[in-house]
Amino acid sequence: MRIDILTLFPDMFQGPFSESIIKRAQEKGCVEIHCHNIRDYSTNKHKKVDDYAFSGGAGMVMSIEPIAILIEKLKAQRDYDQIIYTTPDGQTLNQGISNQLSLSGNLMILCGHYKGVDQRVRDHYITMELSIGDYVLTGGELAAAVITDSVVRLIPGVISDETSALTDSFQDGLLAPPVYTRPADYKGWKVPDILLSGDTKKVEQWKEQQAFERTRQRRPDLLK
Ligand code: ADE
Repeated sequence: MRIDILTLFPDMFQGPFSESIIKRAQEKGCVEIHCHNIRDYSTNKHKKVDDYAFSGGAGMVMSIEPIAILIEKLKAQRDYDQIIYTTPDGQTLNQGISNQLSLSGNLMILCGHYKGVDQRVRDHYITMELSIGDYVLTGGELAAAVITDSVVRLIPGVISDETSALTDSFQDGLLAPPVYTRPADYKGWKVPDILLSGDTKKVEQWKEQQAFERTRQRRPDLLK
């Protein structure tokens, strides 16, 4: 998979993709992540990338031209499965969307900033608008990092134990059950006996029942 991220702040992506699983995914060749600075495509002599809204009011709007030039350039090089725009008024990201996106060949993610992008960018280029929750961030970069992380870990081969991603919370519509590791007894706080029994069938039943119970208590909306 290839992911192109279009942003005014490419340095914000230095951290999240250079550690742990996402770093290894790139090293293994499972994904290529390219960050593009929208400012590099400004034709303005001051490298301006925003302007006042025609409707007036506070806040700047990201101009169409540099974004359009960059998107057109990338689209001429390859086909994109989705051109995503990160915005609080988009569809809320969930595990189902991440699963779908993980099957893509090429994804583009445009990070919104200030009051957002000129609506014509959304009307003519964007194929999917995603929010990562009902709160407002200072920009779409963190949202793009969250989307990328949740998608990349699902690409086959990224997580070495394939079944691990399949047992995540939400993957089967339930939250994940509690997990324990050694020691079996820490200062009298014991691991449930069933997990030490060696009876794999009973352990599986216990995990299912715990996942259901946790979901019922914490996220009953998921059971509807
Ligand atoms: N940009 C600002 N807030 C956002 C959010 N919650 N999700 C996606 N993009 C955003």
